[in-house]
Amino acid sequence: MPEDSMTIIDNRTGVSYTLPVKNGAIRAMDLRQIKTSPEDFGLIAYDPAFMNTASCESRITFIDGDKGILQYRGYPIDQLAEHCTYLETAWLVLNGELPTESQLEDWTCEIASHAAVPDDIPRILQGFRRDAHPMSVLASLVAALSSDYPEAKNVHDPAVRRLQIVRLLAQVPTLAAYAYRHSLGLPIVPPDPSLSYTENFLSMLWKKDEPNYQANPVLARALDVLFVLHADHEQNCSTNAMRAIGSSFADPYMTMAGAIAALSGPLHGGANEEVLKMLDEIGSSDHIPAYIRKVKSGECKLMGFGHRVYKNYDPRAGIIKRIAEQVFAVTGRNPKLDIAIALEKIALEDEYFVKRKLYPNVDFYSGIIYQAMGFQPEIFTVLFAIGRNAGWLAQWQELLADPAQKIARPRQVFLGSARREFVPLDQRGAAGAAAV
Ligand code: ACO
Repeated sequence: MPEDSMTIIDNRTGVSYTLPVKNGAIRAMDLRQIKTSPEDFGLIAYDPAFMNTASCESRITFIDGDKGILQYRGYPIDQLAEHCTYLETAWLVLNGELPTESQLEDWTCEIASHAAVPDDIPRILQGFRRDAHPMSVLASLVAALSSDYPEAKNVHDPAVRRLQIVRLLAQVPTLAAYAYRHSLGLPIVPPDPSLSYTENFLSMLWKKDEPNYQANPVLARALDVLFVLHADHEQNCSTNAMRAIGSSFADPYMTMAGAIAALSGPLHGGANEEVLKMLDEIGSSDHIPAYIRKVKSGECKLMGFGHRVYKNYDPRAGIIKRIAEQVFAVTGRNPKLDIAIALEKIALEDEYFVKRKLYPNVDFYSGIIYQAMGFQPEIFTVLFAIGRNAGWLAQWQELLADPAQKIARPRQVFLGSARREFVPLDQRGAAGAAAV
């Protein structure tokens, strides 16, 4: 009997099967041989929400959720946050190794030279309502790039793929800034290739009449670190969307529009905006115990808490808490931080949260910093998307290079009606079914 294997006895038939175990996993397709009769389709695995199913082999990001460890390409997140720029991290995530000095210089110039978006984008932008959510505008504008770069559909051509990766990394901040200025009723500011990636983004957001916008270096670095922290997080909801859509060989713009849509939900990237709303609702530290009671009774969730993978402190939350102090030294203290810290303390001592291993996640503190920097809550998730851009693209690239991958197409366990004859309209009686 091979050592790296397992034996399953099917109690329905008494037959035993030996399945290989590789890298701590069995192949779900090996279950298919387990049948009760030759006509039987074969055993499948039922796993709503992928609680225990690996959809790919990946070499990009490692997370140990029990120990609170996060590494990109083997490098611990705290070291990258301390020493790397976002573009350096993006190179690492995409290429597997840290760039040399000259590679980083060329990469930075290349990204800056592609930051201007096609001419039709400002016209499309004008079609959106002023109060449109910037995430819906961003998803739409990213999808619109597909019509500007039709060659992008050649997803199997490595040179074409690389050019779209550069364009997306370069242009998503431009689109994000345009979406934000549109919501404020301000004219757009084109990118300035002489500025760093994050300074340029801040210039496109906040430049007024001054000839050259000078970002505060502490705030620019803090935002850059936030992008580093968000760069990848293995098979999360939006990355899974990126891979699922990418598996049909849709072009990367259409594919990323889907990932942005997935990120916008309040259980995923949209949580940072929800945390701010929650802290506003709580209002002061005195109201925390009453709010915790509401959470425990199931009336609402403690936003920014809990994670599918982390059953320990999210290492990104700890780094963000430290950055907050640097930001507040420039902007003044956001009073919401004190409410958040008090809320965290009470929650971490409460049996409900302890038992369920609910800790602050990346979104718990990020919104407080963004608000102190002057961002409106509606753009918080857009900032997340700018950072996650690198990870989505790296995962998309890895998917396309992986010979084991095919179009993503899960199975279902069908519990609906067996075959029945059609009933004409005039014979259906009065009751009918409840409307959907
Ligand atoms: N507040 C209160 N209770 C919670 C919370 C929370 N934030 N999160 C989980 N729980 C409870 C659940 O009600 C459940 O309790 P039960 O066992 O009594 O039914 C238990 O903890 C397990 O939770 P699940 O929902 O099974 O955990 P899951 O892995 O499916 O969900 C998720 C993870 C979606 C992140 C969840 O914790 C949540 O909704 N958190 C709030 C939203 C949030 O902050 N999202 C951002 C996540 S980070 C990111 O995507 C960037």
